[in-house]
Amino acid sequence: LLTGIGELVTNDPDRGAPAAPGESAPGSSAGRDLGIVREAAVVVDHGAVVWAGPAAGAPAADEVRDVGGRAVVPGFVDSHAHLVFAGDRAVEFEARMTGRPYTAGGIRTTVAATRAASDDELRGNARRLVAEMRRQGTTTVEIKSGYGLDVEQEARSLRIAHELTPETTFLGAHVVPPDTDPAAYVDLVVGEMLDACAPHARWVDVFCERGAFDADAARRVLRAGAAAGLMPRVHANQLGHGPGIEVACEVGAASADHCTFASDADLRNLADSGVVATLLPSIEFSTRQPYPDARRFLDAGVTVAIATDCNPGSGFSSSMPFALALAVREMRMSPAEALWAATAGGAAALRRDDVGWLGVGSRADLAVLDAPSYLHLAYRPGVPLVAETMVAGSWA
Ligand code: NIG
Ligand code: FE
Repeated sequence: LLTGIGELVTNDPDRGAPAAPGESAPGSSAGRDLGIVREAAVVVDHGAVVWAGPAAGAPAADEVRDVGGRAVVPGFVDSHAHLVFAGDRAVEFEARMTGRPYTAGGIRTTVAATRAASDDELRGNARRLVAEMRRQGTTTVEIKSGYGLDVEQEARSLRIAHELTPETTFLGAHVVPPDTDPAAYVDLVVGEMLDACAPHARWVDVFCERGAFDADAARRVLRAGAAAGLMPRVHANQLGHGPGIEVACEVGAASADHCTFASDADLRNLADSGVVATLLPSIEFSTRQPYPDARRFLDAGVTVAIATDCNPGSGFSSSMPFALALAVREMRMSPAEALWAATAGGAAALRRDDVGWLGVGSRADLAVLDAPSYLHLAYRPGVPLVAETMVAGSWA
């Protein structure tokens, strides 16, 4: 039993105190009701939540833990990360900060370092990053391949990713490796590489962008992945207007990620097809690109998720609280919308109904904040506010 919770965010609107007429419920803003319970308790059994509500009504439990009035939120669901790689690209970042634009070309630097690394190096690096994420409240993380770009290397990356999470994504179609014919590479990705990778992956992804893969290649990769039992998601419209979002909607992807450039038609398309838009503000921060305007997406009825896209190139932040703070400050999201997007939104992007909320039947994934309210996540950027993280009922 976890008690003494000053503010519990459930993401379950039925749980929150009903709003007085003509007044919005606490924590609800611009349409997102976080289902906040004050002076709350949560009972956990066998890794799941079995009771949540006002502390006064909590049932008896074997073990009681008082969190002293702190806020508790659902664990963050980071639905987009590239954690299997070696080396870093700090020098490339430095060049960007003095005016060089981001290009996908840098990916090849990481590919060379990754290929040269041992399994243990890759595993150690990825583990460290997952641990770093846990300390910042992330309880579910998606991990992509994409720095191997040949059959053995992509399969190896996914095997390592799968040791750390069930949410693994085959991104053989990240860029065309050096000295390779693009058409022949797509053949390889949808053939032998997919066969070797599908057993270790849940998702298939493609970087649909000028300089990476065009719409036809992207469709081929996603359809072949789907035929092999993988669900599609897409790197779309990161560097410019293009067909990425359209392709994502056409194939019924779970999520279109980045969406830095989106036309009104793209927004309507996302809303109509139920494709989640996963916005990645740490990337705009680290590339000096303009932030997408989340308000446009929300007003168009699009489901919005926020994720880190943690990777050594376009943005090397593992912090969901940082992404959330940027979303509020730079993308016109309310704090409530941003918290929802970083938890329930991520769960929607991964088509998961057991995470991203706290209530009877959810997984016991949560973050205890060293703060009285979730508002402090955006209000106190850069401050390590996550005191403790619980994953499936165990303190991580
Ligand atoms: O999501 N856009 C493509 N892939 C990554 C960046 C990879 C890299 O620069 O190493 C992204 O931003
Ligand atoms: Fe990415």
